[in-house]
Amino acid sequence: MAQSLPPFLQQDLHYRPTPKSAEAGFLYGTGRQISVLNLGMQAGSRRGRVVLAAVVLGLFVYLLIPRSHRIYLDYPIPQVQQIEDAVDWSRFAYVQYVTSTAHLCSSLMIFEALHRFGSKAERLMMIPLYMANIQDESSVENKLLKKAVEAYNVKLAPIQVQNKGTDPTWASSYTKLLAFNQTQYDRVLIMDSDATLLQPMDELFLIAPAPVVLPRAYWLESKILGSELMLIQPSSKEFARIQKGISRAAQGQYDMEIVNKLYGKDAFVLPHRPYTFMTGDFKDAGHPAWKDPEETWDPEKVLKEAKYVHFSDWPLAKPWVWEGENHVEKSRPKCLKDKVTKEETDCRARDVWNWMYSDFAQRRKDICDLGLEGSPE
Ligand SMILES: *[C@@H]1O[C@H](CO)[C@@H](O)[C@H](O)[C@H]1NC(C)=O
Repeated sequence: MAQSLPPFLQQDLHYRPTPKSAEAGFLYGTGRQISVLNLGMQAGSRRGRVVLAAVVLGLFVYLLIPRSHRIYLDYPIPQVQQIEDAVDWSRFAYVQYVTSTAHLCSSLMIFEALHRFGSKAERLMMIPLYMANIQDESSVENKLLKKAVEAYNVKLAPIQVQNKGTDPTWASSYTKLLAFNQTQYDRVLIMDSDATLLQPMDELFLIAPAPVVLPRAYWLESKILGSELMLIQPSSKEFARIQKGISRAAQGQYDMEIVNKLYGKDAFVLPHRPYTFMTGDFKDAGHPAWKDPEETWDPEKVLKEAKYVHFSDWPLAKPWVWEGENHVEKSRPKCLKDKVTKEETDCRARDVWNWMYSDFAQRRKDICDLGLEGSPE
């Protein structure tokens, strides 16, 4: 299913599968290829001569080393492509957690995107036990679960939703942490589903081992770690720590507080660019903490760069809820105006923001056959 993109973005948002040939680019091709030979050739005379001289000198030194000492130099250095081909992708999974029917659809939409991108890691959906036991085959839940399994290759893991009182935020936030218990995988990437995934993230599974890898909450003064996107190494040891953290959590402390308490000092920090962005930050010419101070704000560039865009426009509800035009208008980014003439000069932030919401609604209809909750239509 093709996403209809704003016209100015149409060429660039398409996922390019990993190149297979020998002249392949680096990991997920942004198209740029680097080769030592190229550098030498391109630079023409002077740089070329320097490279050549270096190679000859290297060879000369190498020949001077006695044979017995040379042995380790004979190993071929594996290329990135070979490393990738040797990866056992079944050890890794993208994980979604579901605590309600609305979340079930949003998770399905994330998996649809991964399927469309051709991402390589497995896909696992943690679903509440009650959902796994619904007998009625024509129920919305059963239809969506069936689609997940059959169309998008998703595995289902029934779980006990983690409750603490009746606060639904507790439930979803603690349930997310059950990803630490999916020990059938070496590494899982868990993402909140109130988001649009614009590019796959397979490369994250290949970075150096660490119990938890995650970006900072760039929008907060304190720069603590955010938890909308977490790469985790599930293990019984870490899960035990997490469970202890949940049981000790005070009122108003959610998954983000627990993760910061346990891993805040020594987590592996993922750069927030290109991995995460929030819809609310399309406003006011961009969040100062997201961009470089010298950088001019370019909402199109942001959307091309970001891999995962989180819906967060408080006080606006989540993107599957119908809000009414008046309410939405208050939260929408404003067009930039000419200081003198007051004419609107740049409406790209507003257009991209509108597209984020309309695209979500469209995919919800196409993939889940669901309208927006509370919609009069
Ligand atoms: C953690 O996983 C184990 C093994 O699958 C399971 O028996 C246990 O119930 C899980 N714990 C929670 C809290 O879900």
